[in-house]
Amino acid sequence: MKFDDKGLAERCADAEREAILADPGFGLHFTDHMAHARWTPDKGWHDDAIVPHAPLTLSPASAVLHYAQEVFEGLKAYRRADGSVWLFRPEKNGERFQRSAQRLGLPELDVDDFIASIEALIRADAAWVPTPHDGGEESLYIRPFMFASEPFLGVRAAHEVDYYVIGSPAGAYFASGVAPVSIWITKTYSRAGAGGTGAAKCGGNYASSLIAQQEAAENGCSQVLFADAGSKQHAEELGGMNVFFLDADDRLVTPPLSDSILHGVTRSSVLQVAADLGMETVERPIVLDEVLQEIRDGRIREAFACGTAAVITPIGVFKSDAGEFHVGDDAGERTLQLRNHLLDIQYGRAEDTHGWTRQVC
Ligand code: COI
Repeated sequence: MKFDDKGLAERCADAEREAILADPGFGLHFTDHMAHARWTPDKGWHDDAIVPHAPLTLSPASAVLHYAQEVFEGLKAYRRADGSVWLFRPEKNGERFQRSAQRLGLPELDVDDFIASIEALIRADAAWVPTPHDGGEESLYIRPFMFASEPFLGVRAAHEVDYYVIGSPAGAYFASGVAPVSIWITKTYSRAGAGGTGAAKCGGNYASSLIAQQEAAENGCSQVLFADAGSKQHAEELGGMNVFFLDADDRLVTPPLSDSILHGVTRSSVLQVAADLGMETVERPIVLDEVLQEIRDGRIREAFACGTAAVITPIGVFKSDAGEFHVGDDAGERTLQLRNHLLDIQYGRAEDTHGWTRQVC
C-alpha cells in the first residue's frame, strides 16, 4: 500500500503548532492528518490514504464498541540535530502488531504496509515532529490502531476492519519528567493470565488496568505493578510499561517474557544496550517478597520502568499493603546511563551499531 495523500490542507496554523511543540505534554495534541485503510474479507486491505485528522463516524453497532476487538501500537519519530526525522525499530512494532491482531482475531497487516503508513503520515506532518529541548525527549508519538468497525452484534471476528495511524507531539509521559516515580503493588487486581491477551497490545488490557491504576493513585503512586495472576508472588509488569531492577552485583534483572507480559520493544533494546555497556542481564522470575526485602537491605540499587512512552523512568519507591520500600530519591547512575545511551541512539548522537534506526525524511 502507498497511503497517498489527496491534496491535503493544514488543520492547525503555524503559530498554534509552534506553541504546542514548545510544551507538548503527552497525548494531548494531534497532527493535521492520519493514515487510513479498510479491510474486508473479499477485498483484503484497500482504500489506503492519508486523510485529514478528524472525528470518525461509526455505527453504534460497530463490534469494537461492544466486544473490544481492537489492537494498537506505540512508537516515536525523532528529529535529529540536522533536522532529519528517524524511526526506531519500527519493524518490531509491526511484527508485534501482527501478533496482537492474530490474537484478537483481526486481519494481519503486512509489516511493510505498517511502516509505509507511518512514514507517509510523518512525511505529511513532518512540521509536527518536535526538536528536542536541551537534553529532552520530545518526539512525535505515533499511534497505529485497528478495530472491528462492522455493525454486527453477533460474537465473531468482524468482517469489516479499519486501520488508522494518528500522530501526537510528545514530551515526557510522566509530568515529573525524569524524576523517580512511585509504584503501587496491587494484590487485588490482575492484568493478565496464562493463555489470555497479556502479550497482545490490545485496549482491553489497558481498560482492565485502570481500576488498579486508581488504587495506585489513592495510595499516592503514579503507576501500578501487577503480580502474576496465578500465584500473585511474581512481579510481571506495570500498567503500560516493563520493569527492571539493578542488583548489588550490577546485574540488570527483569521478568522473563511469557504470554502474560507485553514483549516491549524498549525492554528488548534496554537488554541489548545494557549488554553493550558491559552489564550482565538476567531474565528470571522475580519473587516480589524477595525483591522488596532486597530493596530494604540495600541489595537492589536501582529500579526503573521502560516503554516507548516512558522511555526509561526511574522508580523511587514501591508501596504495598506491607509498607514502603525506598529505592532512592534520585535517578540511579545505571538508569541514567542506559536512558541517555538509548536516547543518544534514537536521536543519532551515538553510533547505531545494531541498525535500529531508519530515516524517514
Ligand atoms: C507506549 O509506551 O507506547 C504505550 O503504549 C504505553 C502507554 C502507557 C502510553
